[in-house]
Amino acid sequence: MEFNEKDIIVKRSYKTVYKVGDEIIKVFSEDHPKTGVFNEALITAYVESYGVPVSKVNYVNSFDGKWAISLEYVAGDTMEQRMRQDPAHVDDYLEKLVDIQIHVNSFRADGLRNTVDKRFEEIAALKEIDPSTRYELQQRLHGMRRHTKLCHGDFVPSNIILTEDGGYKVIDWAHATQGNAGADAALTCLKFTLQDPDLAERYLKLYSRKSDTAIQYVQRWMPIVAAGQLAKAESEAERALLSRWISVAEYQ
Ligand SMILES: Nc1ncnc2c1ncn2[C@@H]1O[C@H](COP(=O)(O)OP(=O)(O)OP(=O)(O)O)[C@@H](O)[C@H]1O
Ligand SMILES: [Mg+2]
Repeated sequence: MEFNEKDIIVKRSYKTVYKVGDEIIKVFSEDHPKTGVFNEALITAYVESYGVPVSKVNYVNSFDGKWAISLEYVAGDTMEQRMRQDPAHVDDYLEKLVDIQIHVNSFRADGLRNTVDKRFEEIAALKEIDPSTRYELQQRLHGMRRHTKLCHGDFVPSNIILTEDGGYKVIDWAHATQGNAGADAALTCLKFTLQDPDLAERYLKLYSRKSDTAIQYVQRWMPIVAAGQLAKAESEAERALLSRWISVAEYQ
């Protein structure tokens, strides 16, 4: 397989995404764990099997010592691109995003890890926060009921492709779990907050109304999902905001 610079869609520190013919190939860096690559492919295969509109996984292979996943290329724009191109209709897109998220959450995710277990281990491994805060967050997690809903784990506009026929496909399933839709909504809200707090507030109100979920329930997950994002923070400002969200757990 030949990889050319001109075919790059996205380049991150740990992976490069190419479009080659009708395939999207994510090539991971040499030090990226092999288990992570196979896990992403397996999760995607599970999600396909539930009948969710996704970009299907073709194969996992290694090229020049680097592990890679091939997925079906989906023609269209991401919702993020459409929101940028057409700012007057951001609220219509937000409504569509919430509808798709509720649809995703309506599937039962047999075979995937539970959100509570995944978050528990994530927090245990987090050295950026002190042990007492870690304990508080883990206690909070213990209090959460275990659900079986499909949670995407990074449900943001750049992970939804709107197709020309008016349909959509959801991509990027590496973080999907079986669990509580409230955790999924909390993560989406957090990502919107980092970008535009006003948009985040509108998202949360819309999600609450459309899914008939109390805003307080989503908010209970905020410190937990914020902790999970801390290790991935891209700036000091982002780290400061996440730390503020996490510390809320100490006072409730
Ligand atoms: N199957 C696909 N079909 C078409 N485009 C895709 C597909 N998979 C990924 N892309 C494009 O590549 C981009 C990055 O892919 P992916 O979401 O897997 O990585 P990412 O690092 O999470 O990027 P982002 O932060 O933009 O979501 C997507 O936002 C989308 O524009
Ligand atoms: Mg993505």
